[in-house]
This record gives sequence, C-alpha cells and structure tokens, in this order.
Amino acid sequence: MTNATERHVPVLFKEAIDFLRLRGSGTVVDCTLGLAGHAEGIARLLGPGGHLIGFDRDPEAMALAKARLTRVCDELGSQAPRITLVDEAFSSIAKHVQPASLDGLLADFGVSSLQFDEAHRGFSFQADGPLDMRMDTRSGPTAAQVVNEASERELADLIYEYAEERRSRRIARAIVRGRPVMTTGQLARIVASAAPAMKQERIHPATRTFQALRIFVNRELDEIRALFEAAPKLLKPTGRLVVISFHSLEDRIAKDSLREGSRQKIWEILTKKPVTAGEEEMERNPRSRSAKLRAAERTGKAEAKEQGRGIRD
Ligand SMILES: C[S@@+](CC[C@H](N)C(=O)[O-])C[C@H]1O[C@@H](n2cnc3c(N)ncnc32)[C@H](O)[C@@H]1O
Repeated sequence: MTNATERHVPVLFKEAIDFLRLRGSGTVVDCTLGLAGHAEGIARLLGPGGHLIGFDRDPEAMALAKARLTRVCDELGSQAPRITLVDEAFSSIAKHVQPASLDGLLADFGVSSLQFDEAHRGFSFQADGPLDMRMDTRSGPTAAQVVNEASERELADLIYEYAEERRSRRIARAIVRGRPVMTTGQLARIVASAAPAMKQERIHPATRTFQALRIFVNRELDEIRALFEAAPKLLKPTGRLVVISFHSLEDRIAKDSLREGSRQKIWEILTKKPVTAGEEEMERNPRSRSAKLRAAERTGKAEAKEQGRGIRD
C-alpha cells in the first residue's frame, strides 16, 4: 500500500455501504473513486456477478485507485467483480452507463486527502505550494490564473457565491493589490491580513476563500447538478443513490434535488435528516466532522423525463 492510500480513511464507510444495499451482484457506480476506500468495500461485496464502474477526473487519484482495486481483484481471484474505470468527470456518466442499468450510485464529493495533503496540488495553505487546485490536472485554468486574471468584481462575486464569505469585497481588493499571487502561502497571508480571524472563529481566515476558488476552478456545483439530473435515468427501479457532501452548498443541491424528485415520485428519500459521523469516527477522522450523507431509492412508479425533469407515467 502507498502512504497516501494508507493515510486515507473513507468517510461514513459503513453507512454508505449499508444504504447501497449490495446484494452480491449488480452494477454499481462509484462517481468519486479517490483512493478507492469505498470502492474496495463495494468490490468485496459485489462478487463475480457484479460490475463496479469507477470515475475520477484526477489522474493521480485514478492511478492509485486502479492499483488498489487491482490488488483487491487479485486477492479475490474468481470471486472478483468486473471493474471498469473512467478517468473523466462524473458529469459524463450518461455517456458511459446504459439507462436503467444501475443498482447503486455513490458520490463522495469534494477533495481527497491525497489532493489536500500534497502541497504541489495547491489546495491547502497548511503547506506552501503552487496555487493550482485543479482536480483534473490535464485541463482548465489553475487557481493562480483565476486569481491573477479575474477582475476585482469577479473575484469578490465568486468568493461570496462559493463560500458565503461576507468580507469578499475586502478580500478581492487585497488580492488584486497583491498580484501576482503564485503560491498558497502568499494567498493565505493576503486574505488573513485583509480579513483577520474574527473572535471565536475557529477556522483559518483564508479557509472560505480557498474553498470558493476550489469550487470555481473545478466547477464543482455544476458537476453535482449534472449528476442529479442524470441519476434518475441511470438507476433501475429500487436502485439506490448515496451522496456524501462536505459543505452547505453541496448539501443544498442534494437536499433540493431529492425533495423535488420525491415530489415527482422519482425518489423515495431514505434519510429524512442527513446522516452524520458518530463521535468515534469524528475523533478518528476529523474530515468526517462536516460530512452529510443522503440516500434515496429510485421508485418504480415513474420514469424520469429527458433532462431528468418531471415524470412520465
Ligand atoms: C472525497 S474523494 C473520494 C474518496 C473516496 N470515496 C475514497 O474512499 O477514497 C473525492 C474524489 O472525487 C474526485 N472528484 C471530485 N469531483 C469529481 C468529478 N466531478 N468528476 C470525477 N471525479 C471527481 C476527486 O478527484 C477525488 O479524488
């Protein structure tokens, strides 16, 4: 096992696996392989009649996930499920998966510990690194490009929209004055001096700005909306959807989509309130503190219309 894979602890693992209700075969998609913690659990439960399809748009994560799943399949031998890996964003899921073919779909949104802990990926201000923040390092603008090329107004708007940061204008002004901004440490210092921590605030003053940039760079909310639009068409009746989110913007999309789908009889919601980690998991894995899991079952009563909106009886 690599260090990164060893370090990583999947969040709400048992709860996610239980809600997926794997029955020893079937086709399951893990939209966010990461270090394949959840995927390994799924692979072990699927058996030889099963098929696990895994997505990750981060080539580094995909390579580690592939190595881990290969080891698991070697160990399982004739009991291993079929595995298909797709190194694309999960918004492309409908290109790779047949309609009404899935028994389960899991998405564990956000950044993996690999991405967050490695300074060269530029997601964190804990260690100084280049201001990158791309999950898919093969394409798209880096956070440095956004910070150095966007107008002050655009920066303020995105910091407000994607992190609900009330001091976004002040922070945007300081960033524009401090350009060029090339490293995570430099950005964290600029934000902290423009908007110092408020009394009783436990998070670093740059936390929200980093979150906003990361969401913007990776179009994270558009990806989640696209997934909720595609999922009803891809799951079989009684197929299950399990999503884990880490901040209120992600969870709001999940909550609203499931509520609307339940009203339209597309989903039966299985978690009236989101499931959160217990004391013991929070102690063991601080990342689980903000995790919220929501699960739903695809009903057999209605079909999702094209675009995933409305129902057709
Ligand atoms: C929180 S980690 C998943 C951890 C995983 N469940 C495990 O047990 O190791 C999220 C992963 O999803 C990937 N990811 C996030 N958004 C994605 C998207 N829109 N398309 C494909 N992969 C995505 C990230 O690159 C990251 O590796």
